[in-house]
Amino acid sequence: MPLLELEGVTAFYGPIQVLDGVSLTVPEGGAVGILGANGAGKTTTLRSISGTVRARGKITFDGKSIRGLRPDKVAAMGIAHVPEGRGTLGDLTVRENLRVGAYLRKDRKGVTHDIDYCLDLFPQLQDRIRSNASALSGGEQQMLAVGRAIMAKPRLMLLDEASLGLAPSTAKDVYEAIGRLRRESGIAMVVVEQNANLAFTLVDSATVLETGRNALTGTSAELKGMDEIRRAYLGG
Ligand SMILES: Nc1ncnc2c1ncn2[C@@H]1O[C@H](COP(=O)(O)OP(=O)(O)O)[C@@H](O)[C@H]1O
Ligand SMILES: [Mg+2]
Repeated sequence: MPLLELEGVTAFYGPIQVLDGVSLTVPEGGAVGILGANGAGKTTTLRSISGTVRARGKITFDGKSIRGLRPDKVAAMGIAHVPEGRGTLGDLTVRENLRVGAYLRKDRKGVTHDIDYCLDLFPQLQDRIRSNASALSGGEQQMLAVGRAIMAKPRLMLLDEASLGLAPSTAKDVYEAIGRLRRESGIAMVVVEQNANLAFTLVDSATVLETGRNALTGTSAELKGMDEIRRAYLGG
């Protein structure tokens, strides 16, 4: 049984349909990419999982339907959403943001341990631990957003364009850290990216969305070998 399964998912904003039968399968501990141009429906697919947009179709997590659940219930089941634009709390410090991520947890020692883990994974945050999130660079804010998701101790992490707006070397650092997190934690991941080169450093398989539909799905190796993927997403 896959950890997460979407089948025939549709979603609307008002009268406008933006997802038209999306499928996605994420095995336990797996990492699956969602690629595609601006406006293809990548963010909306993540929102349909985290309960922040109304969707139809099949959405199961650990064999149970989560479609229609409130976002806080979905989070409590072990799904952490790192949204587009990061969503860190600007008036709170780095440490406070990390603690907010752990708000459902009762294991104090585990929380302290996981804060240390986040600071080891993202050493730049160590120096900024008392700074307000609003004072961080874009890269540091992205690291903090991932850190906050780690603090929830999820089984599945939804990552929305973690590289957006970052310098290439910073984006690479962020993806290397997420790769290390994946290896060490076994957290499953849905990785939304416009930068397919970066996504392929992390994911085992991916699907390409075009106007709210799966246009192509395959393993990373299969997709990287396709001419249309190389032309449209890999710069050659
Ligand atoms: N809140 C919204 N209200 C109305 N339309 C939206 C909203 N958010 C996104 N859309 C539209 O839905 C489509 C899919 O958007 P989105 O899922 O954000 O795509 P992507 O993340 O792939 O860029 C786009 O045409 C976008 O303009
Ligand atoms: Mg998006």
